[in-house]
Amino acid sequence: MELHLAGKTVIVTGSGSNIGRAIAHTFAGEGARVVIADISAKDGLRVADEIKTSGARALFVQVDVTRPDQIEAMVSRVIEELGRIDVLVNNAGWDHLGLFIDKPREEWVREVDINFWSVINCTRAVLGHMIEQKSGAIVNVSSDAGRMGEYQEAVYSGCKGGVIAMTKAIAREVGCHGIRLNAVCPGATVGAPEDYGDSSMWRTSDMSRLLTAEAQEKMKKAYPLRRVGTPQDIARSVVFLSSDAASWVTGQTLSVSGGYTMM
Ligand SMILES: NC(=O)c1ccc[n+]([C@@H]2O[C@H](COP(=O)([O-])OP(=O)(O)OC[C@H]3O[C@@H](n4cnc5c(N)ncnc54)[C@H](O)[C@@H]3O)[C@@H](O)[C@H]2O)c1
Repeated sequence: MELHLAGKTVIVTGSGSNIGRAIAHTFAGEGARVVIADISAKDGLRVADEIKTSGARALFVQVDVTRPDQIEAMVSRVIEELGRIDVLVNNAGWDHLGLFIDKPREEWVREVDINFWSVINCTRAVLGHMIEQKSGAIVNVSSDAGRMGEYQEAVYSGCKGGVIAMTKAIAREVGCHGIRLNAVCPGATVGAPEDYGDSSMWRTSDMSRLLTAEAQEKMKKAYPLRRVGTPQDIARSVVFLSSDAASWVTGQTLSVSGGYTMM
């Protein structure tokens, strides 16, 4: 199957770690030029170096996706250096487990900023350019939490549900310009130790308590396929939806979660 991604310019937010890193590597493997857009210079540069070492083209841009000014600057730089933007993957996200009733307001604000505002900001920043070139694909990394509402992830679930609805709404508005938007919903996705950047939520928030052998065994039982996901499982679906192989697919929500949700 031809994906026709060779030479395309792809921005992947949050690609310094885990799922985003695997998405960036998978695009690079298809010959795309990948922009590693991450708030962490250390993690982003590591992934850009890995890709360059493999012989593909990568550009690291340090950006906080909650900051529209920084995103505008990134988009201008990418167009200046690489000439166009064919694909945007809104992957950056953040979570911290806790009951809704116990969480401080600052944590909700951070969750909404990173999981929802980031998608609004980055999508708006590339759309004008994509409309002008009459083509583009955007894939939003949501979550199964956004389809079913997850325990101790209330505001995060709300943001991810919002991302799914917004994906469909914008897909209706820009389909006439040749632009497609789809959402991918990972289930629990666990990388190898080297997959995680230092700034990963799996290292810096209490999400790390889901990485113990005991927690993993318990989690697997909730999945019909009896395993948790790998970053590569998610990356393959994101790359497919970004490619010409999915040219008749827009406004869709794909769970990549071993059958955890079926809807
Ligand atoms: N891993 C899972 O089990 C899982 C499940 C469902 C959904 N998801 C979603 O998948 C996406 C990636 O998850 P992950 O497990 O790879 O997370 P991760 O924490 O390992 O990686 C997230 C990356 O985003 C970057 N980032 C964080 N805030 C940023 C900001 N403000 N600006 C720019 N970059 C920023 C971090 O530096 C990091 O490199 C997220 O949207 C997450 O909600 C993950």
